[in-house]
This record gives sequence, structure tokens and C-alpha cells, in this order.
Amino acid sequence: MIDLHGRNINKLRISLTEVCNMACTYCVSSLSDHQRLPDELKAEQMLSLVRMLKEHAGIEKVRLTGGEPLLYPNLIPIVSGIREMGIKSIGMTTNGQLLARKAKALVDAGLKNVNLSLDSLDPVNFKRMGRVGKLHKTLEGIEACLKYGLSVKVNMVVIKGENDDEIVKMLEYGVAHGVEVRYLELMGMGPLHNNDEDLLVSMEEMLERISTKYDVQPVSAEADSTSQRYWVPGGYFGIIPNNSAPFCSTCSRLRLTSNGQLIGCLSNPEAISVRHLLEHDDPADALQKLVKKSVSYKQDVAFTGSSLVMSRVGG
Ligand code: 5AD
Repeated sequence: MIDLHGRNINKLRISLTEVCNMACTYCVSSLSDHQRLPDELKAEQMLSLVRMLKEHAGIEKVRLTGGEPLLYPNLIPIVSGIREMGIKSIGMTTNGQLLARKAKALVDAGLKNVNLSLDSLDPVNFKRMGRVGKLHKTLEGIEACLKYGLSVKVNMVVIKGENDDEIVKMLEYGVAHGVEVRYLELMGMGPLHNNDEDLLVSMEEMLERISTKYDVQPVSAEADSTSQRYWVPGGYFGIIPNNSAPFCSTCSRLRLTSNGQLIGCLSNPEAISVRHLLEHDDPADALQKLVKKSVSYKQDVAFTGSSLVMSRVGG
């Protein structure tokens, strides 16, 4: 769907479940904040909504998120069901704790790429930032993805005083393993709403730190990419400059929550349910109206902060 600003909204992010097996400090205030919604959609219902969005709203690419998507009971049928609809670009964003055992089955079902959230390479710091979970499990998940041919990116949310001393170390890990590291500027969402300024490490600061050790050259990225890409000897990395260089004007994303609501913009917690369309014989017109309304909430220029919790929408 082309919106009023000429943006082609063709990427769908599906939060399969709000439950998670980590409790990152910038995302929630405790593990119990992540609760499975009582009206979480079943796999067939989710697949029906995705099919509608593909057929009537121009969705071409899908990313599975959460919460933690590996905790969704029918993840494999979801991936194969999406592939059977003819959607070739299927990705997942995960903390990787449960990935090592499932990587092969996911590849066989049609998964193409995985973004791993990895904020620290130090086991103690990993545990401090994530509260639950073990570093070695996420690293084993990454290795399994590489073994079975998945394309892997690592997402590191950079936070002043917490993991900014690991920026270069993370790049070296990425280069050594052939995975692209993407540094995320912290966004004022959920528990950080209106409260993130002291914790922010800017794109410029990140580049300065990497440049003290490596030759860094900018390279081009896809037009609707959220990341600015750079080359260093041996590989590439990216920065997602939510604050320093916002990318709302090229945003191509629509989000679907685990109970069937559309969220058009991370700056706006307004959710629009499309679940009732599962009962319609001919949902096209109604769906298009609701998608249009949802994407009309998109910001023109920059993320403005929100009470939305990332575990609801998965980024
Ligand atoms: N700011 C930036 N990135 C965040 N993520 C979660 N919360 C925030 C935040 N407040 C990241 C996750 C995941 C990606 C989808 O978004 O770590 O990798």
C-alpha cells in the first residue's frame, strides 16, 4: 500500500506472542511484565490475517518477532504457511536462547534470515542487561544459524555506561563470524519513555570509537533500510540511528500484534483490530480502510517517543 507520503508499506512485522524468556532492562521492568495475551491468535488465524494483508494490502515481506517468537507454540507451521502463500522474504528477530535446537527446522520451513538481539559478549553483563538468559545459548543459536545457511545480523542496543565499552569488541566478533553487527541507538519506549537522554550513545560517538581502531567507510544501504551501513576491513556493520538520523520518511513497516491488531507507528500506541475480519467472506475493502488508518499514524520525520513496550510490537 502506498501511503499519503508516498511510502510503500510492504513489510509486515508480526509479534507472535508477548511472552519472552528474557527481561532486558530497557524493555521491561521485570520478567512478569511479559504476559501471553489471553486472546493470542492461533496459527491458522494468524496465517489468515497474513494472507489477507498480502492479497489486499500489498505486504511482500514478513518478519516474525515477539516477545520471543521461539516461545510461540506453532512457529514452524507459521513459517511454512507464510512460505506457501508465496512470500519469499521471511525473517525473524529473536534473543536466540532457544534457537540452536530449532534452526534446522526453521530453515527447512522457509526462514531466510535472523536478527539476533545480543547486547553484550560478557556473560556477567549479558545477564545484568537481560536479567534472565545465558550468553552461551545465544552464541550457540548464532552458530547454528550460520551452519544451516541462514543470513544473520546481530542487534546491539547501545546504552551509556552499560555496554558502550563493548562496541569495538562486538564488531570484532561480527567480523570474525561473518555476521553484520547493527548498533541500535536507544529509543525512548516503554520504561524509557521520556527518560532515555542520559543513556543515549549517538551514531557519531559510535563511529568515533570504531574509527580509533579501524578504517571505516560508508557504503550504500537499501532505500527503505533503517540502517546506515559501513565497511571495515573484513566486513560490514550498520547503525540504526533512531535519534541522530531518523528514517520515518522511508518507513515501509506495518505491525501486527499477537491478538490481531495493527500498529502503524512506534510513536503512536493506537492499535486497530483487524481480527474481526476473520469472520468476513470478503474483507478486502474493510481491511484496506483499516490499514490506511493505521499507517496514517506514521510520523513524517522522526520517532517522538512512546509508552508502547517493544515486547508488544517487536521493533
Ligand atoms: N531502543 C532500541 N532498540 C530496542 N529494542 C528493544 N527495545 C529497544 C529500545 N528501547 C531492540 C531489541 C531488538 C530490536 C527489535 O529492537 O533488542 O533487537
